[in-house]
Amino acid sequence: MVEPTWNSERRLTAISRASLSVPARQAVADKQVLPDRTVLDYGCGRGGDVRALQHLGCQAAGWDPYYLPEAELRRADVVFLTYVLNVIEDPHERRKTLQAAWDLADTVLVASARLTWERSKVKGEAFGDGLLTSRQTFQHLYGASELRNYVEEVTGVRTVSAAPGVVYAFKDETARLAYLAQRIVPDAVWLASEDTTSAIAAVVDYVERRGRLPRTEEVPYPMAELLSHLSPGELRRLVRDSADETKVEEGMKRTTLNTLLFLAVELFNGRGPFSSLPFSVQLDVRAFFSSYKEACQRSDRLLLKLRDDAYVRGAMNASKVGKLTPTALYVHQRAIDHLPTVLRLYEHCASIAAGRPQDWTVAKLRHQGRAVSWLDYPDFDTDPHPRILSSYQVDLKTLETSHTSYADSKNRPLLHRKHEFLAPDDKDVERYKRLTAAEVKAGLYEHPHLIGTENGWQAELVRCGRELRGHRLIRRTD
Ligand SMILES: C[S@@+](CC[C@H](N)C(=O)[O-])C[C@H]1O[C@@H](n2cnc3c(N)ncnc32)[C@H](O)[C@@H]1O
Repeated sequence: MVEPTWNSERRLTAISRASLSVPARQAVADKQVLPDRTVLDYGCGRGGDVRALQHLGCQAAGWDPYYLPEAELRRADVVFLTYVLNVIEDPHERRKTLQAAWDLADTVLVASARLTWERSKVKGEAFGDGLLTSRQTFQHLYGASELRNYVEEVTGVRTVSAAPGVVYAFKDETARLAYLAQRIVPDAVWLASEDTTSAIAAVVDYVERRGRLPRTEEVPYPMAELLSHLSPGELRRLVRDSADETKVEEGMKRTTLNTLLFLAVELFNGRGPFSSLPFSVQLDVRAFFSSYKEACQRSDRLLLKLRDDAYVRGAMNASKVGKLTPTALYVHQRAIDHLPTVLRLYEHCASIAAGRPQDWTVAKLRHQGRAVSWLDYPDFDTDPHPRILSSYQVDLKTLETSHTSYADSKNRPLLHRKHEFLAPDDKDVERYKRLTAAEVKAGLYEHPHLIGTENGWQAELVRCGRELRGHRLIRRTD
């Protein structure tokens, strides 16, 4: 075996993986890795992702210049370039490597790199445009938008940040737009159907949610078979007789707004022609707008409104969900789709630019300036006052990102009045409201400046002679 001649010990950067890497997990969750797609892990290191993907039933193969140089390099639908770019000390070779990975991809390249917010974890001396560690390994840590721009520049296509430090570059516009559409309005879940009656019920449900009849191409195959003996006219009549008109009207409104949102996000990401839109979106545009031009004009206006402070502030005031503070609106993940469309657009634009982290609970949208943070409270549902674990922020004006981990903090910020982050009809709202009312009555919110962190809150609980048992406030027993 001829070992590559590198100026740094790149082979030492490859770790043994017990489970899928963040980029591979993201691509699986985003339905980019599918059983009928081939996968190549370019620079696969010790091959942990390849094995895990094969285990999931994927046709995955790997290649690595040090660990697996003899493997055959074959084109694949999905090519991963996972944490390779950041370990290459020669900028020229870095670019060639990215280009080679892109050339091997038939559908999508998933390029990832470590980000600048990991700087405190990497100790080393300045070397070229990065750092050389004491183990002689090199790291060029990327800014989130630096990585995205770099991949765009080398591949020559528009990219989307799938997660922090994970960028998708698609071989054709249709695949990129299908991904965007799926991300903004996930595919409808069809009700199960075993016979014609339940298949009709499923179509009625679709019509009530989407506001229009599905086309045969949009209906899952077994259901289309069950309905095949009905003419389009008969099906239309049956649905009209059973569908709830108010729900259909709400569905129409929702789809109109979702379409505007999609087109505005698409404009933010770079707009393609009508024919490259996903088929269902084309049908939505035809059903709910006079023309594609009209839909685009309205979505352009929506994107412009995002720049208007007074408009954004007004939308936050009018929002039926979320907790508004003097600096920002905070919304739980479960309530985010209930935000006014301009605020959903705000969050989507930030996520396309910098990647939404895989784990987050509450989104924070600033109303002064434009910045979105995704805050992770892993115990939101079980802890009456959940503690923050991490926050990832992107400034939409500068596209700078920052990350804060509270994992080692002894006095973490925590949340109160959890119901305010959720939609009013959320199943947990009443229970959280009852707790808040009991806490207010016990005098626990009399000194708001003291209760924002664990220690202060604990001290106030003691002062008021109370303790928490689950979501119940009881008298202290000690
Ligand atoms: C940090 S490891 C990542 C390994 C693997 N992708 C993972 O995430 O587990 C970096 C890998 O890049 C490989 N590598 C270094 N230079 C490369 C190049 N020019 N082309 C492809 N891979 C390269 C190294 O051999 C090493 O295995």
